[in-house]
Amino acid sequence: MSRPATGSVLTTKLRDGSRKFRLRFAAGGERQDLILHERPGCECGCGGGWTETAARTELGNVQARIRAGVYQRPQPLALPEPPAEVPTFHEYASSWLAAKRDWHAAGARILPLSNGRFASLESDRHRGVNKRDNPYTPGAGRKPPNLAGRDRDLENFQSLTERLAVGRYERSLIYSGLRGVGKTVLLMELDVLATEAGWATTDVQEVGSQPDFRVTFARMAARLLREMSRRHRIKERVERALGVVKAFSVAVPGAVSLKLDVDAASGVADSGDPDQDLTDLVREIGEVAQSTGSGALFLIDEMHNLDAGSLAAICIAFQAVSRAGLPVAMVAAGLPDLRVRLMSAKPYADRLFQYHELGRLTAAAARTALITPAATRGVNYAEDAARQVVRESAGYPYFLQEYGLELWNHAESSPITSGDVDAVREIVSDSLARSFFGTRFQLATDAEQRFLAAMASCGDPPYRTSAVARAYGARDQRGVSPQRESLIAKGLVWSPRRGQLDFTVPLFAEYLRDNHPIASFDET
Ligand SMILES: Nc1ncnc2c1ncn2[C@@H]1O[C@H](COP(=O)(O)OP(=O)(O)OP(=O)(O)O)[C@@H](O)[C@H]1O
Ligand SMILES: [Mg+2]
Repeated sequence: MSRPATGSVLTTKLRDGSRKFRLRFAAGGERQDLILHERPGCECGCGGGWTETAARTELGNVQARIRAGVYQRPQPLALPEPPAEVPTFHEYASSWLAAKRDWHAAGARILPLSNGRFASLESDRHRGVNKRDNPYTPGAGRKPPNLAGRDRDLENFQSLTERLAVGRYERSLIYSGLRGVGKTVLLMELDVLATEAGWATTDVQEVGSQPDFRVTFARMAARLLREMSRRHRIKERVERALGVVKAFSVAVPGAVSLKLDVDAASGVADSGDPDQDLTDLVREIGEVAQSTGSGALFLIDEMHNLDAGSLAAICIAFQAVSRAGLPVAMVAAGLPDLRVRLMSAKPYADRLFQYHELGRLTAAAARTALITPAATRGVNYAEDAARQVVRESAGYPYFLQEYGLELWNHAESSPITSGDVDAVREIVSDSLARSFFGTRFQLATDAEQRFLAAMASCGDPPYRTSAVARAYGARDQRGVSPQRESLIAKGLVWSPRRGQLDFTVPLFAEYLRDNHPIASFDET
């Protein structure tokens, strides 16, 4: 007869007032410890939120696994979100799916903990840094493994879809921010949420590449209708609506009309007036969505590319559907001057939409963005290394991803140390110079590059146009207005206020001062 498994729970109070539970037990002939923390969102891998009772239950579960011969020691992990004390079934299932996706991808096995979180089981493939499994995602619109620091945006959007679906009033959303702060990937995540809520979406569509914005809207409308038709049995209603899309696209002068196998409707969306036609089109989408009992979502990226007329038409159309209480919404993103552009197109745009500025991540969110992707693969960061990367990246998501990628490429084993950070600093800076800053700098003509260098030479932003003109070597502001205008049109520069300028690329001034100082232009 086997001896009953023995074990104990040792409770200690930590300096922050929360408690720590040390589970002590014997497994495989050895004494073992498993530490669980009371503090919510603990990043040691226990998931946090443990109570004494839950810790004792966990000890029982561990002992049951030992008796069944299936116990393996869990590897420490950092997890991004604090767990609910008692997880709902949905939270439990989502957490399990996330764990399965992340850890199975890395060849690990999963240990369920009784607080609804999961730990990965140690595996030999896990002790080093698996070079083929680099989790970091520097790049435009590349979904990060952890969308850190955007929980409030996700919750806000969820309540928007819920309110619109029951016919309540809700303003569409406009996000603005500098290059690389995560506008596109947030839109992509909202796309997933909307789809999960049963909404039809356009996918994230970048506007501005077509000479007439109506071409993009016609395509988005056709896509929404096809999606609604696929999900709901409303073929006839959708065909009628596609007739409206066709009429809309035919009315765009010079545009190639969409290949739609329906007759164009007559008298709706075919006036040739963009304001009227877009309103008819969006209303038609809203009515079809309403008939399905769900909603339709336009996801528009790089919206600052649109001219004032196009922005005005969008304001008019969305004002009309919101008055009619139709379940159709727009989430758009663009550079920091998007709000001002919308307001100068239609002054009431200020009240029509909810505006959110996406900025750099808080230190805590930046830390999560850095350490969680590695932790789910069994690789940790030494505290000073994590702090160093967060500080040097200034909380900008793109820079964090770039640092993470290079650290992963460099480090041989866990934990990643400040020595590793020192070793990759120059590689990161070269890589950013090429991929993030350099590609933007190359968009500018010689005269525009000189203007950018002149801006950077003026110290801290925002920069007075008159001072930039002087640094450029122009007689007055008029002498640099072509460069100023074209750099704004290229999205490299924006004007926070009249007479002021700033870069749309974070830390661009530092890059320019190091690599393209204004003096270097005088030499050539
Ligand atoms: N919340 C986040 N947490 C972690 N990484 C993020 C987050 N948001 C964005 N990133 C990462 O930052 C980078 C830039 O993201 P994204 O392309 O969405 O920025 P953007 O604001 O759309 O930039 P641009 O203005 O150049 O289009 C990507 O590498 C992405 O993986
Ligand atoms: Mg983007």
